[in-house]
Amino acid sequence: MNFKLSEEHEMLRKMVRDFARKEVEPTAADRDEEERFDMNIFNKMAELGLTGIPWPEEYGGIGSDYLAYVIAVEELSRVCASTGVTLSAHTSLAGWPVYKFGTEEQKQKYLKPMALGEKIGGYGLTEPGSGSDAGGMRTNARLEGDHYILNGSKIFITNGGIADFYIVFAVTDPTNSKSTSAFIVEKDFPGFSVGKKERKLGIRSSPTTEIIFEQCIVPKENLLGQVGEGFKVAMMTLDGGRNGIAAQAVGIAQGALDAAVAYAKEREQFGKPIAAQQGISFKLADMATSIEAARLLTYQAAWLESQGLPYGKESAMSKLFAGDTAMKVTTEAVQVFGGYGYTKDYPVERFMRDAKITQIYEGTQEIQRLVISRMLTK
Ligand code: CAA
Repeated sequence: MNFKLSEEHEMLRKMVRDFARKEVEPTAADRDEEERFDMNIFNKMAELGLTGIPWPEEYGGIGSDYLAYVIAVEELSRVCASTGVTLSAHTSLAGWPVYKFGTEEQKQKYLKPMALGEKIGGYGLTEPGSGSDAGGMRTNARLEGDHYILNGSKIFITNGGIADFYIVFAVTDPTNSKSTSAFIVEKDFPGFSVGKKERKLGIRSSPTTEIIFEQCIVPKENLLGQVGEGFKVAMMTLDGGRNGIAAQAVGIAQGALDAAVAYAKEREQFGKPIAAQQGISFKLADMATSIEAARLLTYQAAWLESQGLPYGKESAMSKLFAGDTAMKVTTEAVQVFGGYGYTKDYPVERFMRDAKITQIYEGTQEIQRLVISRMLTK
């Protein structure tokens, strides 16, 4: 067993870390305040090849693996969790299902420009009445000649409004609401529109919107996978997506720890740095230990996927553990900063707000437990 990252992975980490520090961190607080997505940052990620890390070169990617991808999401999230999830949703939720289930034509048309960062992808599963119970969706699609007509709406869509196309799930058998199919829906298809933009507690520079289908015309060739296979496509996509969120959570927690350690070394009370006082030093030790455990789970799940081994349970575990770690560590980081941590003068309050979503999206922590326990007992 070898826990040392390869030179390739270390180089990628350093490259993303430098980029994140120079190009992402300086505006992170302002973008959060203004709820502003910055297309320039996405374009620069594309120039560095970050938008296509795990995809083969023939599809515009850099031909690396899922471990490299989670390292990139982690390093971005260490300074800006919004940038981390933009890349995560683009790669795991939109790129992955096209790579896995797409025809050669669909890969050339959709995966390649996504990998090159010329187009942005999104994923539409959740509906107003169907969150954790993803199988209860109402959005439907009926075949009419050479196209499908979609009606319904999806909510809480990461990259909503900035994506060029979305992987959308809809009921295709009116007699069986469980029989769903996946579609690639372009933003310019007739009947497609972007609805309400959410105002959020955290990840505020990552746009989250509703997407609406009103007699939306989707060409037959934009069916992704087989008719009736949609739920499987959605679930398998989330198996990997969840590990991207685990990486985001690890990055958020690490960013909060970095800030807390630096502050604790500088801040003096009772005649010495608070880092030299056990109440704080033990806190830092616990934070670092939890982060390391979360990181190992995340890297393990990514490694399993890269090796072609089963990773669904491990990915649910990494998201569960890393999400809780991010919430705990960021809350403690605010505590280390005391009153200053509660202000916008320091980044830890943003990290704490950003951490919360990692316990909710791509399956709540309760759903992760359900997935893990079902796999243990099946
Ligand atoms: N891989 C392959 N197939 C799977 C699967 C998986 N991981 N999980 C389920 N399936 C298959 C089952 O084998 C079953 O197939 P058969 O009918 O052929 O037997 C079928 O799917 C139905 O499975 P279940 O009976 O387990 O379905 P369920 O209704 O009990 O639901 C669930 C399972 C795990 C609770 C699921 O609904 C779920 O994951 N819910 C959470 C939804 C979620 O994570 N939403 C996140 C939205 S995306 C998001 O958040 C993005 C963002 O903003 C960044």
